[in-house]
Formats: sequence, C-alpha cells, structure tokens
Amino acid sequence: MSLEVKVRQYKPRDLEQVLSLVRELETELTEKFKDVKIKSKVEDYRHRYLKPRNKYKIFVALVKDKVVGYLMGYPSLGAPEIDNMYDMLPISANWTPPEFYLQITFVSKPYRNQGISKALHRKIIDYAKKQGHKEVYACIAKWNLPELKVIQSLKFRRKDLGYRYRLSLKFENRKND
Ligand SMILES: CC(C)(COP(=O)(O)OP(=O)(O)OC[C@H]1O[C@@H](n2cnc3c(N)ncnc32)[C@H](O)[C@@H]1OP(=O)(O)O)[C@@H](O)C(=O)NCCC(=O)NCCS
Repeated sequence: MSLEVKVRQYKPRDLEQVLSLVRELETELTEKFKDVKIKSKVEDYRHRYLKPRNKYKIFVALVKDKVVGYLMGYPSLGAPEIDNMYDMLPISANWTPPEFYLQITFVSKPYRNQGISKALHRKIIDYAKKQGHKEVYACIAKWNLPELKVIQSLKFRRKDLGYRYRLSLKFENRKND
C-alpha cells in the first residue's frame, strides 16, 4: 500500500520535528565520513535557515502529521561564495534573480524510496516557477545515486563538474522578462 504524503511549506510549529531530522542527517553523515568530525548545524537551522522572513524556503513532507522529510532552497545570486555566507533579502517587490538553488533534501530512512523526495522537489520547483525564477539548479555529488535519480527523473539537464554534477531545470515562460 502506498504512503499518503502531504507536502507543504514549512511552518514555525514544525521547528522541533525538522531539527530532529537534521540530527538524523548529521548522524548519517558521521557514519558515512569516518575520518571527519561533523560540526552540528542544528543551531544554524534554528537561528538562520528556519528563521521566519529569511531567504530560505523550506518544504516539508508529512505522513500522518509527522514531518518525515524536508527540502530547502533559496533565490541565488549566482555567486556561491556570497550565497553561502550572506542572506540577501529583497527590498523591492520586483527582485527575482534568475536562479533558484536547491540546497539540501533529507528524508528519514524508514520513509525512503517511496517518492517523498520527488514529491518535495515537484513542490519547490512549482514554487520557484511561480515566483518568476528562470531556472532551478542543484549540485550533487556523483556518489549520491538516489538524489541523482530523483533529480534526473524530473528532467534536469546535467553538467559534469568532476566529482559532482550541476543539474538545472529551465523554465520557459518567466514572469517579468
Ligand atoms: C536522497 C534522498 C533525499 C532521497 O529520498 P527518497 O524519498 O528516498 O527519494 P525518492 O523515493 O523520491 O527517490 C529515490 C530514487 O532513488 C532510487 N535509489 C535508491 N537507492 C539507490 C541506489 N543505491 N542507487 C540508485 N538508485 C537508488 C530509488 O529507486 C528511487 O528511484 P525510483 O523512483 O526510480 O525507483 C534520501 O536518500 C536522503 O535523505 N539521503 C540522505 C541525504 C542526502 O543525501 N540528501 C541529498 C543531498 S542534498
């Protein structure tokens, strides 16, 4: 029987459940990268990424009201070093940069391989398109086969960057062009 999954934008009441998924993600990273210590980003999520009115857009996936996955992205200036360090916020209603960047997706292990990541991507792509962005893109390591599978099933075009791919999906009719 297939899961009933609901995808919607993050709400402040989801905070603790999303932070709990972040801890799961960090445990998984610790298991995967044995030679490094992962510095937790839970407080960055709490005070930056999940802060209302910041640049980040987060969609969550729910199964029976439990948050089991999330996808976070943001409008990109096209300069990763600035995007990573600074949170630029529009001061004019007309500001829509061409690119929307998909930063991170996580689905809790027991809920994987049931289309949840794909459903999250579909929702955020639809959101970015409605906002008037020209393109959605992601950078994915070549070892991340499940995420590559998700993105490629959504018809993103792939560019080889050595150890990873840049994958982009262009929209045809951009608002305000
Ligand atoms: C990547 C991730 C978000 C995918 O979530 P998910 O909900 O399981 O994804 P979906 O069910 O929508 O799709 C997964 C696809 O990968 C496929 N897959 C799973 N494991 C695979 C593997 N080892 N090799 C190849 N394909 C694989 C599944 O069969 C499925 O494809 P299908 O729909 O054609 O059958 C999840 O695995 C995760 O959270 N991983 C850890 C965090 C991470 O790496 N995030 C991405 C980088 S930001």
